[in-house]
Amino acid sequence: MPQSVTVVPGSSLKPAEAALFVGVVDRSPASTPSRAPRRPGPARLDEATAALDHAGTLEAALERSEFSADPGKITEAPGGAARFPRAFVVGLGRPGALDMETMRLIGAAIARKCAEIKAPAAAVEIHHAIDADGAIEPARAGKAVGEAFGLLACDFDEFRGKATAAAARPSVRLASSDADFVAGLRLGLALAESANIARVISNTPPNVATPAWIAERARAIGRKAGLKVDVMAGAALERAAMTGLINVGKASENPPCMIRLEYAPKGGGKGQRPVVLIGKTMTYDTGGLSLKVNNGMRGMKGDKDGGCAVLGAMHAIATVVKPRRPVVALLAAAENSVSDEAYRPDDVLTYRNGVTVEVTNTDAEGRLVLADALCWACKEEKAQSIVDLATLTGGVVVALGSTYAGMFCEDEALRAHVEAAASASGERVWRLPMHREYREMMKSTIADILNSNPDRKAHPIQGAAFLSYFVEEGVPWCHLDIAGVHRSEGDKGMFVRDVPTGWGVRLLAELVAGM
Ligand code: BES
Ligand code: MN
Ligand code: ZN
Repeated sequence: MPQSVTVVPGSSLKPAEAALFVGVVDRSPASTPSRAPRRPGPARLDEATAALDHAGTLEAALERSEFSADPGKITEAPGGAARFPRAFVVGLGRPGALDMETMRLIGAAIARKCAEIKAPAAAVEIHHAIDADGAIEPARAGKAVGEAFGLLACDFDEFRGKATAAAARPSVRLASSDADFVAGLRLGLALAESANIARVISNTPPNVATPAWIAERARAIGRKAGLKVDVMAGAALERAAMTGLINVGKASENPPCMIRLEYAPKGGGKGQRPVVLIGKTMTYDTGGLSLKVNNGMRGMKGDKDGGCAVLGAMHAIATVVKPRRPVVALLAAAENSVSDEAYRPDDVLTYRNGVTVEVTNTDAEGRLVLADALCWACKEEKAQSIVDLATLTGGVVVALGSTYAGMFCEDEALRAHVEAAASASGERVWRLPMHREYREMMKSTIADILNSNPDRKAHPIQGAAFLSYFVEEGVPWCHLDIAGVHRSEGDKGMFVRDVPTGWGVRLLAELVAGM
């Protein structure tokens, strides 16, 4: 699948070597709720598309037995059309149902078809059918298609060795006659590039991707994108009283660090309080002395995906969104390992905000490092609002599967922004409750709070309730538990096989753009 993608002016595209993609909307009467299959109804090309149909091959495609106008269904028009040797009619589904997420699936279908036929170039002219319908503007359609092409182009082959035949990475040049659609394509590809930065780092194995390695990547990304990057490690962590990071990280030979990235708007922005994005960046989670059992450890290189998403989002913010407000990112990076120096169940940690924590389970480590970042965000950054992303609990996977991330946010205005960003990006969030009783559940008999109540109730909410003890009163805060959504299920839509999704990069970019 992986193919690199570039957008080129339509004039530089030689039809003789390109594939043409046009769209068709399903206008058959709504099917009655019977089990009879919908007849391949009266699908018609819109006028502008019909104008490309010099030899009637596109119309003929609509008559083929395999044709359907279902979203993302692609039917070839044998013989090509309008000087293009190969042409395809792309189903856009029913007019009213065409939203961004459907558009991304359609874009992914086109990208997959390009890869399948090894098209060196493609003219994507689906905007005619969308225009005629008006459900979604060409600019947004182009953006969705760009995201799909870009995400599918992500290269995960860095760790293939000599025993694997090198996969060809053909490149595909995209063009469209619609300037808005083209601008959208470029935007979508740029957002996907930021997401792919997160995905490639996420995919990097834990023997390579140590906290120091992530810090180095952050520095390199920051240098290129124009972000200020500071890393607190060793004595600096002690000085900053980052209790959680120090304790969670101390069993590992790969020392912990807090990575801080700062986006400052050109000109203004002085004195404005920043939006702070926080990411759990556990480069590996063995569970610590409360060791993970029964292969529960496998995949825990992905426990850094909150931080990876925040890093990718900062790239998008600096290179694409360029908001007029300051944004700070904090990546709490550590490896939760085992040794005679490991922190233990029964330890009590004292945080810089004065809250004491009885450790009951060293596998509930994410909240311990996030607590440092939350304290820091409130006190040192004077955060205007805070959003944290973390692969925090297996419980959220049980509750919501891979369809939604769990969202905890008691601030109405911030929640509205996050929900709007979720629907714009297709990275869905579902609100889970936060009640005084859950905060009560976290009370300890020896310290202020526990890091995990031995009662296995409401795990994802326990995590959020714990974190709430480290957010200053009045600071709008949203916690996103992404344990269910940070990896893809398999080979479908915008994702190939079981790979990191970069979940949150596009959501955070939309969030900052819309705030
Ligand atoms: N990193 C895990 C959560 C996780 C599980 C992420 C599955 C991705 C997939 C987290 O640190 C953890 O171990 N959570 C425990 C919490 C418990 C000890 C309170 C869990 O979910 O079991
Ligand atoms: Mn854990
Ligand atoms: Zn973890």
